[in-house]
Parts: sequence; C-alpha cells; structure tokens
Amino acid sequence: MKKTVVELFAGVGGFRVGLNNVELKNDKVIEKKTFDFVWANQWEPATKSQDAYNCYITRFGDKHANNVDINIVNKKEIPSHSLLVGGFPCQDYSVAQSLVKSNGIEGKKGVLWWSINEILQTKKPPFVLLENVDRLLKSPAKQRGRDFAIILRCFYENGYDVQWRVINAAEYGFGQRRRRIFIFAYHNKTKYAKALNKFDSSNTILKESVFAKAFPVKDSYIKINSVSIEEKIILNISQEFKSDFYNAGIMKNGNITSIQTEAITTSPITLKNIMVNTKIDSSYFLTADQIRKMEYLKGSKRIPRLRPNGESYNYTEGSMPFPENLDAPARTMLTSEKSINRSSHVLQDSQTKKLRFLVPIEAERINGFPDDWTNTGMPEKKRYFMMGNALVVGVIKQLGTEISNIIDNE
Ligand SMILES: C[S@@+](CC[C@H](N)C(=O)[O-])C[C@H]1O[C@@H](n2cnc3c(N)ncnc32)[C@H](O)[C@@H]1O
Repeated sequence: MKKTVVELFAGVGGFRVGLNNVELKNDKVIEKKTFDFVWANQWEPATKSQDAYNCYITRFGDKHANNVDINIVNKKEIPSHSLLVGGFPCQDYSVAQSLVKSNGIEGKKGVLWWSINEILQTKKPPFVLLENVDRLLKSPAKQRGRDFAIILRCFYENGYDVQWRVINAAEYGFGQRRRRIFIFAYHNKTKYAKALNKFDSSNTILKESVFAKAFPVKDSYIKINSVSIEEKIILNISQEFKSDFYNAGIMKNGNITSIQTEAITTSPITLKNIMVNTKIDSSYFLTADQIRKMEYLKGSKRIPRLRPNGESYNYTEGSMPFPENLDAPARTMLTSEKSINRSSHVLQDSQTKKLRFLVPIEAERINGFPDDWTNTGMPEKKRYFMMGNALVVGVIKQLGTEISNIIDNE
C-alpha cells in the first residue's frame, strides 16, 4: 500500500509538517517524503484573503492544493489515498428527521463532519487520522457524548473501527499544554484491524493502540465504560444517545470501550527553552497601560452578574501567572495571541527584563513548526491566528511513525 495522503482543513500544513518531518532552511522547505501528499484542501470562510492557503502553497507548491469550500467539492474528484488527515471544527452534528434520506443522512449544511463522512463513503481511505478539541467527547452539554457517538456511528456504517485518545502535548515532552482529541480510524478490511482482533478492548487501549504505542499510559485505570451503537441508527443517536466517553477508547464492530487513562509523562520543553534571546523590537513590549489592563485580566475576580431570568450570581475566575513561568511549558495558544486578552502569553524579556508578548517565531516554536514558517506575506496578527488554529506537530510526527509502520505492513 502506498502512503498517499489527503489533508483536509490544511491550514498552514501542520499535519504535513509533522508527518513528513518538514524543516525550513534559508526559506527552502526540506521534506522527508515518507508520505506522499496527493491533495490538500484549505478555504477560510470568514475572510476574502486566503492567508492559510497562501502560506501552504508558498511552502509546498500549488500542484495538489485546493482553495475551495470543502462543502461544495465533488468528493468523487478527490484522488484516492490511503490516509485521510485533518483538524476539523467542533460543531453541532445533530440530525433531524427531515435530513434522513432514502440513501442515508444528509447532514446540516455547513457542518464539516458531513464532508468528511462523504469522503469516507466515496473514497473509502483505509486509514484516517483526525484532530479536534477535547470538548468533542462531551458535546453537547445537555446530551453528553451525542456528537462523538454520531461520528463513531458514521465510521461504523462505513466499515471502520476507531481508536481515540486525548493527548496533552506537554505531558509528552512538547512545549505546550494543548489538549486535543486524536481519532484514528481504520477500515475493518485492513490487516491492521484484523490483527487487533486478538486483543481485548482494554488491552488494545492501554497497550496495543497507535496512541498507546506513541504516547504510553499507565496500565492501571480508574474508570471504564462500555456501550454499543451497533443497533442504533444515527437518527436515534441524535435524539436520545447519552454516555460518558473517557480520554481513551476503541470502537470495534460498533462496540465502544472507553477508559480514563493516565499519561506516563516526560518533562516538557519550557518557555525558557523556546524564547528568542536576541534584541526584540519595541513593538512587542507592553506599555504601562497594557500592563495595568493585563494585571486586571489575569487576576482573580468575583463579579456580580445577572442571569437572563433576573437571578443574580457571582462570576468568578482564578488568577493566572503574570508574567508566565518560564520554567513551565506554554499554555494553550489561542488565535487571539498577542492581543490584550487574559489568555495571551506575557513573558519577561531575557535582555531588558521588561514585559513583552510572544514574537511570531516563538508562537511557531510552541507548536514545533520551523521558525518563520508563516512568514509568507500575511499580516503579523494572522501569523498568531494560524498558530492558534494549528497543532503541536511533534504529536503528529510521533503518530506518523506508528501509522507509517502500519501501512508498511498492509
Ligand atoms: C483547526 S484549523 C486546522 C489547522 C491545520 N491543522 C494547521 O495545522 O494549520 C481548521 C481549518 O479549516 C479551514 N476551514 C474552515 N471551513 C472550511 C471549509 N468550509 N472548507 C475548507 N476549509 C475550511 C479553516 O480556514 C482552518 O484553516
């Protein structure tokens, strides 16, 4: 089996950077071609300018890149591939009776999961690796687990078994406390799926899964849950399914086991390790007024507020380190980094000892991208935005090594 990849929601190419161990030397991309990227799709609905796409094609060329809304792409025209990858948004996946058609489900317009599902149906890639926020396991709040169960059921209907795991990158030696769910699905016709049948589900989760191999966990656990969706159609799941999904799990033939696992941790890269220690431009330093605002935003507060029904309550939030503890990894980077915002990182500069924001290269290092990866002509604000949307590429690299071995075996 060839290691051909289709990258959806490609952004600035985090999956490709990780899977192919990409480096940048004198603005030239050096790419180990372990995986052959045959098609990538990236289209930003919110803006006319397509900065992520432009960055992607500056780095990788435009031969196999596509800048069209994935909702309107004719899925049959996507090249065949052995691995489908993508970081897709957490949306509402519920299905109404009116969307149930004779030939299956027609998802709500604009909900990107349904495009992925259509690719599973039409292209049947043997392997799939997806990334999302960990909230996906619990969404929506009023019907916990529904959205994830819909995803699992779609995989089941298309003939896949699935493993998942929530990974906090900092627990495995990376420079950011970014907690994301990774989903690895494999068609039940693959040798890989068949080989796993000899293990029971909890053993697979704790020892044999792609995730356990790349990111080991302790072999004792506190919570385990089993549930089956074999007999439940998507409409029923949408209307009534409710269950807890823990941070690691497997679905085999529609039977789901999930376990609350604990990482076997390694010490993380710290902010000190990634900081730029040369002279930093004055525009990154906070003014006295900005320091005052940040002190307030990062401080603990208790604010009386009213609920829509008129009832009063206290909104509370705890304090955050200000400035950041440089001996710790970065917190989760958001798209709003470098704005006056509680979640922006503020560092004490090593030369001047004054307070400053991250510079774009530091934002890239926190995700493990090569320095200046997004320095492709987009406004600086967008460079932070791209990193807030991207992923810790080292996590993908480690998973890639496992997946590459699996595909070799096919
Ligand atoms: C979470 S980000 C993924 C970032 C990517 N993994 C990276 O490393 O940069 C999701 C991406 O999906 C893109 N996107 C959103 N809606 C889309 C659509 N309808 N069609 C194609 N891409 C879309 C966004 O512009 C964004 O870049």
